Amino acid sequence: MPPVLELRGITKAFPGVLANDHIDLTLEEGEIHALLGENGAGKTTLMNILYGLYTPDEGEVTVRGRRVEIHDPSDAIARGIGMVHQHFMLVPVLTVAENVMLGVESVKNGIFLDRADAARRIRQISAQYGLEVDPDATIKDLPVGVQQRVEIIKLLYRQADILILDEPTAVLTPQEVEELFKVVRSMVAQGKSVIFITHKLKEVMTIADRITVLRNGRVVGTTTPAQTTEGQLAAMMVGREVLLRVEKGPAHPGETVLEVEGLEVMDDRGNLAVRGVSFQVRAGEVLGVAGVQGNGQTELVQALAGLRQVSAGRVRILGADATSASPRQVLERGVAHVPEDRQQDGLILSFPVADNLVLNTYYLSPFARLGMLNQEIILTTAEKRVQEFDVRTPSVLTPVSSLSGGNQQKVIVAREFSRPIRLLIASQPTRGLDVGSIEYIHR
Ligand SMILES: Nc1ncnc2c1ncn2[C@@H]1O[C@H](COP(=O)(O)OP(=O)(O)O)[C@@H](O)[C@H]1O
Ligand SMILES: [Mg+2]
Repeated sequence: MPPVLELRGITKAFPGVLANDHIDLTLEEGEIHALLGENGAGKTTLMNILYGLYTPDEGEVTVRGRRVEIHDPSDAIARGIGMVHQHFMLVPVLTVAENVMLGVESVKNGIFLDRADAARRIRQISAQYGLEVDPDATIKDLPVGVQQRVEIIKLLYRQADILILDEPTAVLTPQEVEELFKVVRSMVAQGKSVIFITHKLKEVMTIADRITVLRNGRVVGTTTPAQTTEGQLAAMMVGREVLLRVEKGPAHPGETVLEVEGLEVMDDRGNLAVRGVSFQVRAGEVLGVAGVQGNGQTELVQALAGLRQVSAGRVRILGADATSASPRQVLERGVAHVPEDRQQDGLILSFPVADNLVLNTYYLSPFARLGMLNQEIILTTAEKRVQEFDVRTPSVLTPVSSLSGGNQQKVIVAREFSRPIRLLIASQPTRGLDVGSIEYIHR
């Protein structure tokens, strides 16, 4: 029997990047095939080609042994190919059932959109694959994990049997990931085939039947979890050996750098989010703050960085009071901050990479003299930092908004680490990053 899907020699160039370079990939029936690669490796491009969103420059696609031309998503759906995108494509104000039916002609007795029938089919699909969801709920009221189920139901409703999931776990909690894995296993058990895109090694080792690794637009190799290790996969992804564990000796703490005493901080709704927290951080040590999202970590970090008002308690940096200091005062005491929400707190998205690389010191010499910004020095400094921190960007003049999440994070790290710092506050610094970048940040 021919494979369910075969891609041969798929090639796609964007200005300045060969996103896909003669990629071959086969998907067998009932298989979970993981497509693994770092940010920018070309995974989404390949899947967008398969889904008819991009036209390849070269190459061919075969579905169940027959050559097909896929010009748009409706061609893809007609061939049984469905895709859940990294960013969901649901209409927030519509219900689950309305979203699922959207764009599908459901005609009964000449009447369009038979809601009762659609709701029945949604319930049936939910039950069959373990995708629990209320067809009458409004999308915007649903947690992300449930919205993702709706995206999957949409595909099953359209009778897709080749399902592409693009970084489906990026937005999920560990519990939601477990649930998604159950759904994926249930789908393949019932004859569906799945392309599962990720850059997370543990996930591919858990869920995949086969793994194809992409790097710089090329297939590095195809393997199985039994035949490989996380270390080997990481090396395939990055193109060199990668340390997956942090090598560190015992700490030799020195003077106290940060002292927090009885700190109380409100959240946006005026509820007490941090209740009387006290701790110290000494030079040469790493203090880990662990907790499930929503238990005050965000507010704690914002208060320390000067981004949120303190309602009680005290903060001292290097012995001097810093309670309710401004962000710039905190920064000038030698505190670096890698924020949790890099797009909101870490970057000015519409500004070029270069400006974002000097945001915290732009008003100092050598970048500014006599109130004028020295563009030339900003640019040469930016070029150096882009090199040193391996920020993948077409140029330092590119708006930072058009970089991948991982590269945006590298811009922040490059900026924060490029001045003398005494204390680093890093909030989920490796979220959404690939193993190569995570290793870099840990070091
Ligand atoms: N629409 C586009 N225009 C220009 N460049 C693009 C476009 N889409 C992707 N790229 C570039 O192609 C490369 C591969 O990107 P992508 O397929 O999104 O990677 P991945 O999904 O593996 O992170 C990257 O260098 C990216 O910047
Ligand atoms: Mg992608």
